[in-house]
Amino acid sequence: MKILVATEKPFAKVAVDGIRQIIENAGYELLLLEKYKTKEELINAIKNADAVIVRSDIINAEIIEKAENLKIIVRAGAGYDNIDLNAASAKNIVVMNTPGQNSNAVAELAIGMMIFMYRGQLKGISGNELKGKKLGLHAFGYVGKALAHIAHGFGMEIYAYDPFLQPEDFTKENVTEVKDIRDLYSMCNIVSIHIPANEKTKKLVNYELMSMMPKNALLVNTARKEVICEDSLKRIFEVRDDFKYVTDVAPDCHNELLKYNLRYYATPKKQGAETAEANINAGLAAARQIVAFFKNGDRTFQVNK
Ligand code: 3PG
Repeated sequence: MKILVATEKPFAKVAVDGIRQIIENAGYELLLLEKYKTKEELINAIKNADAVIVRSDIINAEIIEKAENLKIIVRAGAGYDNIDLNAASAKNIVVMNTPGQNSNAVAELAIGMMIFMYRGQLKGISGNELKGKKLGLHAFGYVGKALAHIAHGFGMEIYAYDPFLQPEDFTKENVTEVKDIRDLYSMCNIVSIHIPANEKTKKLVNYELMSMMPKNALLVNTARKEVICEDSLKRIFEVRDDFKYVTDVAPDCHNELLKYNLRYYATPKKQGAETAEANINAGLAAARQIVAFFKNGDRTFQVNK
């Protein structure tokens, strides 16, 4: 059995060593393709693989079509918008993610970004504190919950919107549920976005929501650029000189926003899950899930059911 790890953005070495150990202990062979530059390299590598572990690597219909032996794709991470689920299902290929495994890394980055923006991007000017501010979590999954834990320590008031959860999911985390997304945006000084990117969430964070945010609003995006309506973003920056946006996923209009200096920041490269710990958690979970799938038919984290 050949298990390919195909990562354009490689895992930390310690994570690759751990993945290798799990794969080889199971009697399988590890194939490693890191920092590849072209789709052709990926196609060549995936051709003979029985399983593949990826990060944000694009696994589209063309690649799936050429993967003749492939039985399972595991996205070592949360979002699987990079994988064509229909194409995989059409070939009976199981797709899984590793939910929760890198959520602490993303939550810590979100908090870091809030402090960075509230403290004038660390340029030595007077700023504001997180203590006592209202934090709105747009979705309350693994990252939202990890962020709530940290934000409690900062003395923030925490609100969350997530129509897929039950009231007790909020109360047990000591977070106030907000049932209308408009209330979350109009009430909170800082809103942090944690929704997945899919057809329903595309451009969901629009002008209406942004314009409802109170004075000196900060919008934080460690999710996907697709969930933001970029026309709205450009417009809100034009009409409100107090609005701030910080993101781990630069929008297409990045260059147009640079002129807003202290009100806008995008990381040079997506780094939410770029920690050795997150790589170890997600990478090893992916390897274990593949072994459990082949040995016991375990499909616990399948997302294309
Ligand atoms: C995820 O969906 O798990 C995060 O966005 C991390 O993505 P990455 O593996 O490309 O860093």
